[in-house]
This record gives sequence, structure tokens and C-alpha cells, in this order.
Amino acid sequence: MIRVAIDGPAGVGKSSTSKALAKYYGFAYLDTGAMYRACAWWCLKQGIDLDAETVDEQLITETVGEFFTGGHFDITVDPDDSRVTCDGEDISEAIRSSEVSAHVSKVSGVIPVRHVLIAAQRATIAREAAADSFSEGRGIVAEGRDITTVVAPDAEVRVLLTAREEVRQARRTGQAVAAASHDGAGSGIAVGTEDVAARDKADAKVTSFMTAADGVTTIDNSDMDFEQTLDALVELVDAAI
Ligand code: C5P
Repeated sequence: MIRVAIDGPAGVGKSSTSKALAKYYGFAYLDTGAMYRACAWWCLKQGIDLDAETVDEQLITETVGEFFTGGHFDITVDPDDSRVTCDGEDISEAIRSSEVSAHVSKVSGVIPVRHVLIAAQRATIAREAAADSFSEGRGIVAEGRDITTVVAPDAEVRVLLTAREEVRQARRTGQAVAAASHDGAGSGIAVGTEDVAARDKADAKVTSFMTAADGVTTIDNSDMDFEQTLDALVELVDAAI
């Protein structure tokens, strides 16, 4: 069982490279950002005001708790079919909307919410050690902001994936443009550009992903393409197997 923990800021290409890495090894893949996004999506759907400077943390905590304990939320760990559902409805695209991106830090900044999600993430990672799991006990790639430090500090491979801010901003803008043209007008899916620096600043108040913790390998992919980033990750995982 190999656990690969990958953290990093927005726009660094964590999701696509983590997914490809998981596919390469037949590992499970856990997108923890999708879990926080789903919680923000659910809170917005329940009409909770996430624009307020000071949000109602108790209400958010209760609402997210109900989302999980009420069995509304589900996430798949197959890197070829990575999906988030709410009551069986596929919300994988809805949680990438610019509205969710703009509000997710307000929800992920609520500490009791983090405790609920961290426990769920640890349970998912532990489950992949079993022979009857998705990876058949081979392993999992989990990516986010606090995987190397909080969720799985004892992971066999721990990586901080980073890139210069202007590079990350350009990548995110490219993604938004691609999503807009791909999904067509009126779909309400991830259109417009996003200020990744603002989200990172808000996120950095509760998670530490701008510098590597002790024992965590930094990969700066500012001047690397997708394949080169994947190769660098494969090299680290191969060394741990
Ligand atoms: O990875 P992604 O950009 O989809 O993450 C969305 C948001 O979820 C982040 O901006 C952050 O607020 C939150 N998040 C977090 N901890 C994680 C993963 C994501 O707080 N481990």
C-alpha cells in the first residue's frame, strides 16, 4: 500500500497530474478539493450567505454535517471516473463553477468543517489498503492543501507541487477559457477567469501549502510541461515502491 500525498496552490495542475499518476499505478485517486467544493455548493444551495465578511460558522458546520451524515454526498476514487454526487445527482461540473470557486474558502476556513472532511479523507485513504477496495490494496494518490501535513503526514510519498504565481494564473485562465468553450453558453459552468492569488491567500490562513514541511519534496513545475511533471512524480513513487 503506497500513499501519495500531493499538496499545492491553485492552478498548479495538481488534479490532472495526480489523476494521471493514479492511473499509471492503478491507484485510487482522492480529490479533496472536490470535497470542500461540494460542501460550498451545498451551503449555497441551502441559501447560506457566504458573501458576508463574517460567515455563520455554526450554521455552516451543521449544514455540512447534515450533508455527510444524511448520506447526500458521495465521491468516487476511480481516476478514470472521478465524480462527486449529491443524492445520486452528478455535481462534478457544478462544483467547478466560478460561484463555488469564489466562495469555497469561506467554507474550508471553518475548522469544524475541516475536522469532518479530514476524518472522511483519512477513512477513504485507509480503506484503499484493503484487497476489495478500488485499488485492491495497491495505493492511493490524495491531493489538496493539507494532505502532506495533516491528513496523511505519514504517507510514503509526500510532494508539494508548486509554480510561480503568474504561471499558475495563466494556467487557470486557460482552464476557464477551455471550460467556457467546451460547455457552451448558458450551462453555468466555470466561465471567466479566477483570481488564484486571492483564493490562495484566503486558504493559506488555515492550511500551509506554500512551503514544504519537513520531509516533503518540492516540485516546481513552472518550466515543466505535463509529461515532465508526471515523470518527476513517477520517479518519486518508483523510489518508494
Ligand atoms: O483543489 P481545489 O482548488 O479544487 O480546492 C478548492 C478549495 O478547497 C481550495 O481553494 C481550499 O479552500 C479547499 N481545500 C482545502 N483543503 C484541501 C483541499 C482543498 O481547504 N485539502
